[in-house]
Amino acid sequence: MADNRKKSKNPIKTLGRTLGFVIRSYPVHCTVVLVCLVITTVVTANGTLFAKQLIDNYIQPMLDGTLEQDAGFAELGWRILGIALMYAAGVFSTYLSNRLMVTVTQGTLKRVRDTLFEHMEKLPIGYFDRNERGDIMSIYTNDTDTLRQLISQSVPNIISNVSTVITALVSMLILSPTLTLVALVVVACATTIMRVLAGKSAKYFRKRQKNIGDINAYIEETVEGQRVVKVFTHEEKILEKFAEKNEVLYDSTRLANGLANIVMPIMGNLGYLNYVIVAIFGGYLAINGINGFAIANLIPFLQFTRRFNMPISQFSQQLNSIIMALAGAERIFALLDEQEEKDEGYVTLVNAKEDENGDLTECEERTGVWAWKHPHSADGTITYTRLRGDIVFEHVDFGYTDDKTVLHDINLYARPGEKIAFVGATGAGKTTITNLINRFYDIQKGKIRYDGINIQKIKKADLRRSLGVVLQDTHLFSGTVADNIRYGKLDATDEEVRAAAKLAGADYFISHLPKGYDTEISGDGANLSQGQRQLIAIARAAVADPPVLILDEATSSIDTRTEAIVQRGMDSLMEGRTVFVIAHRLSTVKNSSVIMVLEHGRIMERGSHESLLEDKGIYYTLYTGNKAE
Ligand SMILES: Nc1ncnc2c1ncn2[C@@H]1O[C@H](COP(=O)(O)OP(=O)(O)OP(=O)(O)O)[C@@H](O)[C@H]1O
Ligand SMILES: [Mg+2]
Repeated sequence: MADNRKKSKNPIKTLGRTLGFVIRSYPVHCTVVLVCLVITTVVTANGTLFAKQLIDNYIQPMLDGTLEQDAGFAELGWRILGIALMYAAGVFSTYLSNRLMVTVTQGTLKRVRDTLFEHMEKLPIGYFDRNERGDIMSIYTNDTDTLRQLISQSVPNIISNVSTVITALVSMLILSPTLTLVALVVVACATTIMRVLAGKSAKYFRKRQKNIGDINAYIEETVEGQRVVKVFTHEEKILEKFAEKNEVLYDSTRLANGLANIVMPIMGNLGYLNYVIVAIFGGYLAINGINGFAIANLIPFLQFTRRFNMPISQFSQQLNSIIMALAGAERIFALLDEQEEKDEGYVTLVNAKEDENGDLTECEERTGVWAWKHPHSADGTITYTRLRGDIVFEHVDFGYTDDKTVLHDINLYARPGEKIAFVGATGAGKTTITNLINRFYDIQKGKIRYDGINIQKIKKADLRRSLGVVLQDTHLFSGTVADNIRYGKLDATDEEVRAAAKLAGADYFISHLPKGYDTEISGDGANLSQGQRQLIAIARAAVADPPVLILDEATSSIDTRTEAIVQRGMDSLMEGRTVFVIAHRLSTVKNSSVIMVLEHGRIMERGSHESLLEDKGIYYTLYTGNKAE
């Protein structure tokens, strides 16, 4: 969050970046729109000069008798026709540019959403730890919407205003350079005042966007935690806090809009002031015949002054939305600027065949045998190591943030077919250890080896593909039960899905659901019990058939009878696999090969259930304490 705000202080750069994004997406459209806008402006400017030209070139000479009436009217007719055609061209270009802008705006927004989402998918888990969900959501909703306004309204207006200003300025210079100078001085004063006010306004708009994010996050959190709120009857408290946040939002919005609304009338009136000053000065020039300025020139000049002022006051009217949009665009770019999850891994996972000598060769088809393909840059050779699921931690230190070490000097090894259990108090660091195996986070010190290869060298996607993980908090996606199990292996057949569910002990309850495997799961599995959700999550990990399984409290919400079923399934699932189990219920980990007892991020005891009991240490206390319940 702090990062975001730091970066959001360069509106010009943001505008440039936004335009760059739009132009790169639609170069041809943008060029056509630009040409159309210029045509429209030139047409309008010409319209103003038209009356003067007609009077000067035809009507006055005809009145004076220097031009014959018949010829005069004929030429006048042609001129009028020409002007009519010019106006028609103006109307057509307005129509065309409006049509094209719809495509440009909506197309750009689509690309922004695509780019955002694609980038977000590549961000490390740490980003989601640091940013609230509501804030991220509001980038997709609020910020892209303000960006829409910027692209579809503000930017075309700025362009047409700039071309209006240029054409007006040129015309004014032709009519009277002296008077133009006067008009420019007045405008310069006005813009300075405006810039000061706009700067203040921008600050409040940034604050406002942040407050919107805050309130969104709060609403989302409350909606999600509605049950907890009700259980503790905290409705009043929640409401109070909401009112507080709402008040803060109201204040920043009021200040932001208030200031922007002050800018608008000031600018409007400054325009009139300019008009008056130019009129007085021009009158003075004409009456005294200074610089040969004729009174006939004053009328068009004043019209151009108005035309010159209009964009500036219009700009101030739009300042509000421009500033808001830029604040939104800044937040969008801030997300896009977030560092992607780095993957410097070059060891990949490939299908392999094993010959009679035990040598591995890479192959395209699925063989059920997997190998780590390890290219050595030094001599250009490639070695293949069979994927077994052998994991070693050597003196690993880790902290989520640099200032707090969560794990201290962790040493462990897990051989294929072994079941390693982590037990220990809440917050001891059990989940953290498993987060390191799949490289959600990188370690600060030490090494983790997978089949003898430093996991830093393994491509993350391949590393994660080889691990089956049941996370501590199960998350189900919208779709059917079968879809959710298939999430573990997208091309799994119905039979494979069913077999995995059987293995996980989920088949029984699924077949009793109204539509069996085709039952739709609503909002993160709200229509299932916690235990049922866990069973689906286990089936999901099982269907992938990975060599390494990580089960974080996977059976915590399952009744003991089902757990026995799952346990049996697991035991067959575990054949030849390395399994890491985290469990609070010690009965589940009793039959593990090794039990690691963690305390404050250190492994305090390790050994089998029996040996640990004999030691009469922490495990003994935990176990017997548990039994006493
Ligand atoms: N994403 C995170 N960012 C910062 N600190 C974290 C994060 N996740 C966990 N921690 C901290 O790391 C420590 C270990 O947490 P961990 O989740 O590994 O505990 P645990 O042993 O799995 O506990 P539990 O039994 O409750 O699941 C805790 O002190 C916790 O506050
Ligand atoms: Mg945990």
